[in-house]
Amino acid sequence: MNVKDRLIFALDVDTFEDAASWVETLKGEVGMFKVGKQLFTRCGPDVVRMIRAAGQEVFLDLKYHDIPNTVAAAAAEATRLGVKMFNVHALGGPDMMAAMQERVRAVAIAENCPLPITLGVTVLTSSSGEELRAVGIERSVEEMVERLALLSKEAGLSGVVASARELSLIRAACGSDFVVVTPGVRPAFAASDDQQRIVTPAAAVAQGADYIVVGRPISRADDPVAAARAIVAEMEGSIG
Ligand code: C5P
Repeated sequence: MNVKDRLIFALDVDTFEDAASWVETLKGEVGMFKVGKQLFTRCGPDVVRMIRAAGQEVFLDLKYHDIPNTVAAAAAEATRLGVKMFNVHALGGPDMMAAMQERVRAVAIAENCPLPITLGVTVLTSSSGEELRAVGIERSVEEMVERLALLSKEAGLSGVVASARELSLIRAACGSDFVVVTPGVRPAFAASDDQQRIVTPAAAVAQGADYIVVGRPISRADDPVAAARAIVAEMEGSIG
């Protein structure tokens, strides 16, 4: 895989026009565009179609979590839309994840769509141990991350979304062919914004991230294309 393909730009904007303009600016500079709940709720699948029509790949970050049949049906639609990757909450459980994975495979084969990369979300970085205890989970964040990553793998998912802090833990537990996507990445030239667990692109890749998600360090840069190129260069430096 090309190093550039490992950079995912977070399309955290609120209009279709802004999304289209970022795709135009950054196509060829990043490997994928991440569409989250805000943009999808506002613009719907048309925004995914627009990105695909520009020849670009999509990470649909909707973090599905519902009964197995409902998540499987939503995942089938994501597969039909042609997204490159999407995610579900691993807390939805093994049955939900396995049903989802089975339906995605069946749709991809029956309808001749590429098989998307499926990711489990373990513990949100906004959740502390205290937050887990509040919902009745007495285990530590680390134990839960490892457990949910393993459940994702056992259910047949391609990988997980994980903060840099969890990379080595997940690599040790799930092996090297498990896909890990890491947000919260901050190149040396950028401010930390509100990200708590930060790491540079070079360090994230060195610690085992297959893909990194970067938003504001690119979108708020004076020259976003130069920022994206600098991030790719940092990743390249680490890969050698
Ligand atoms: O602008 P920034 O680079 O912080 O954007 C990071 C993107 O990654 C956002 O879309 C955010 O929702 C997402 N994300 C994150 N931290 C997580 C999970 C997802 O920042 N733990």
